[in-house]
Amino acid sequence: MKLREKTALTFDDVLLVPKYSEINSRGAVTTATQITPEVHLQIPIVSSNMDTVTEASMAIAMARAGGVGIIHRFLTIERQVAEVSRVKRAESYRVDDPVTALPDTPLKLAMQQMKESDCSGLVVVDSQGKLAGILTHRDLDLAEDFSGTVASLMTPLERMVTGVPSISRDEARLLLHKHRIEKLPLLDEQGKLVGLITARDILKHRLHPNASKDQRGRLRVGAALGVRSDDLDRAEKLLAVGCDLLVVDIAHGHSNLAIDMVKQLAKRFAGVQIMAGNVVTPEGVADLAQAGAHSIKVGVGSGSICTTRLVAGSGYPQLSALMECAPAAAQHGVTIISDGGIRTSGDLTKAIAAGAHCAMLGSSLAGTNEAPGASVVRDGRRFKVVRGMASLMANVGRKEMDQGQISDDEWEKVVPEGVEAVVPHRGPVKDILHLLVGGLRSGMTYSGARTLSELQDLAEFARITGAGITESRHHDVDKI
Ligand code: XMP
Repeated sequence: MKLREKTALTFDDVLLVPKYSEINSRGAVTTATQITPEVHLQIPIVSSNMDTVTEASMAIAMARAGGVGIIHRFLTIERQVAEVSRVKRAESYRVDDPVTALPDTPLKLAMQQMKESDCSGLVVVDSQGKLAGILTHRDLDLAEDFSGTVASLMTPLERMVTGVPSISRDEARLLLHKHRIEKLPLLDEQGKLVGLITARDILKHRLHPNASKDQRGRLRVGAALGVRSDDLDRAEKLLAVGCDLLVVDIAHGHSNLAIDMVKQLAKRFAGVQIMAGNVVTPEGVADLAQAGAHSIKVGVGSGSICTTRLVAGSGYPQLSALMECAPAAAQHGVTIISDGGIRTSGDLTKAIAAGAHCAMLGSSLAGTNEAPGASVVRDGRRFKVVRGMASLMANVGRKEMDQGQISDDEWEKVVPEGVEAVVPHRGPVKDILHLLVGGLRSGMTYSGARTLSELQDLAEFARITGAGITESRHHDVDKI
């Protein structure tokens, strides 16, 4: 047994000392970062792989704002793949595999297909894959008789405008505008459908200039995995639909199980971006990096819904964990993600200043419209549920997913390391991100830093006392 001499610190234990600054506006700084050395983001925020935080809607909103979402793993493989697929299909420079129908498909079936695939139109092709027409809401909205086939209501080929596969996005935009149409099918020399450019995608690109996108203009998304034998199969299926980042996520990431899983992923799927965690020591960072991870999640027991430190007596205060892990990450050429415990933009700024490339947020985002689950009303106010992934109900839900209905004995075997809770309903996630990033930008100007790496170089933390914390919060006034 030994005792560390150094006191480990967390966000509330310190403040960043303001430094001389020539940056007179928050607009003069950039929050660009990397989630892995290869994948760049415009804001250093990642939504947590929790079942009350990130499914497709959250991941879409996060990527549009310049961050990224990690789809949680407490779903069947098929459902998780479908969530990732929804994000990847949400927008792109061009759709390479548009949803199609045959001319003789019954209209009702085609409309069902549109609903299920979340598409506002179907491209109609014949049995050889040649373009025959298009069926969009314009063809359907004012129609009365839906008993026929797609051919009865579609806009036929002769009335359509099409493009060649090599068309540039600007040429496509001009054509779409000139003809006041919404969809431009791309045809090869034989008239076969090879892609689709939509006005909606071009508009989205204008609306979200900071969006995190892959080379094909699709939104980026990550997905979490465990360390079970079927997780390799899960990984393969997630990658097949375009998942950008695999996240090996177990509570104690500095373990043979996590290290072996990372090694297997790195070997089987060469070039795939891998995040792994969670750890709080430089040794943990080094072992996962050497196994093949590109990004390491740092944080044990720091999350708002975690009780690991109470249940297991194990963990490490978050700020020290980051400060101690950052040099190891730099040495191994990997990034680190601060996971858990971020309540304010001030905490976010401190986490980045302490060496994190990004921060992963759970309960701060769980109250937003895009988080899974409906809101509940309590005493006239709206809330949303957030639960730890090691909470009683999450554990039971997981067992039920694997085994069906479980016995009382199985309930009793659970030793939770997390809680179920509610957070206030907070509207769209973009509003929360705006406040967090605005605060971070402000923090950067106080440190005289134009970039996040300058913030890390210039940051000087001062330890504060309980009195300092009291002084930091609003005090001696009644808050309204
Ligand atoms: P915040 O503070 O942002 O933290 O809500 C989110 C992170 O908490 C972790 N997490 C857990 N940790 N027991 C734990 O000890 C749990 O049940 C639990 N559920 C989530 C996770 O790292 C998440 O990103």
